[in-house]
Amino acid sequence: MTDVDGALVRAENVHKWFGQNEVLKGVSLHVGRGEVLSIIGPSGSGKSTFLRCINQLETYQKGRIHVGGELIGFEDRGGRLVPLPNRRIVAQRRNIGMVFQQFNLFWHMTVLENIIEAPMLVLGQRRVEAEATAMALLERVGLSEKAHAYPMKLSGGQQQRAAIARALAMKPDLMLFDEPTSALDPETTGEVLNVIADLARSGMTMIVVTHEMAFARQVSDRVVLMEDGKVDCEADPETFFRDQPSARLKAFLATIH
Ligand SMILES: Nc1ncnc2c1ncn2[C@@H]1O[C@H](COP(=O)(O)OP(=O)(O)O)[C@@H](O)[C@H]1O
Ligand SMILES: [Mg+2]
Repeated sequence: MTDVDGALVRAENVHKWFGQNEVLKGVSLHVGRGEVLSIIGPSGSGKSTFLRCINQLETYQKGRIHVGGELIGFEDRGGRLVPLPNRRIVAQRRNIGMVFQQFNLFWHMTVLENIIEAPMLVLGQRRVEAEATAMALLERVGLSEKAHAYPMKLSGGQQQRAAIARALAMKPDLMLFDEPTSALDPETTGEVLNVIADLARSGMTMIVVTHEMAFARQVSDRVVLMEDGKVDCEADPETFFRDQPSARLKAFLATIH
């Protein structure tokens, strides 16, 4: 993947309607390679929809999203957006890992089998190679001893760390996290946030939708407030949380403190 103007992700004026309901009203955002962007904002403001448009779980209807210089989901024919065929969309999605609030593991497979599935099926890796990568990833997320356990036997935090390892096994250029700790107990939230912070330090480019303000402040390079389908304001974390550079941000932060 090649970048345009140093940005791995470049969203320009992205609009998305569900029927008559316009949920993204012109979102523009850039994420530099190696950068961590946190998105905060009230429920229903379009955060999940925006992430889902980046990896084409939803299609946007207007604007442009480029990842690594490649227009996501469409071909630009003289300014007209023509949807890509499904196999091209699948190929684009391969480079983008996503971790959801709910863990989305395959319940009938062990943790190891969960992780090697896509690398073998999609990337054509041999089992020995896929397993070696998977074991290294499990080590990294602190789950080596759970390789042969079924997801049901794991705590929520362990399941989420397994889901992160599974996403990383595809060697993505970009990781998207949609409220990865919202379904977790306070005790296990920390262990998942530590894994994400470690990934940030390793240079992974990430967009993290989160309610964890301390995490957003400590780990992000930039923080964005999304409200009503738009970017309300964005800044580096110090400025963002200290100066609270918009009235809506002040109001939002007041609701969660
Ligand atoms: N699949 C869908 N069909 C119809 N409306 C949807 C769908 N997904 C989300 N929406 C609507 O889009 C808006 C934004 O939702 P969402 O992106 O989930 O917000 P957030 O993640 O910020 O809470 C909400 O009004 C929601 O009801
Ligand atoms: Mg959401």
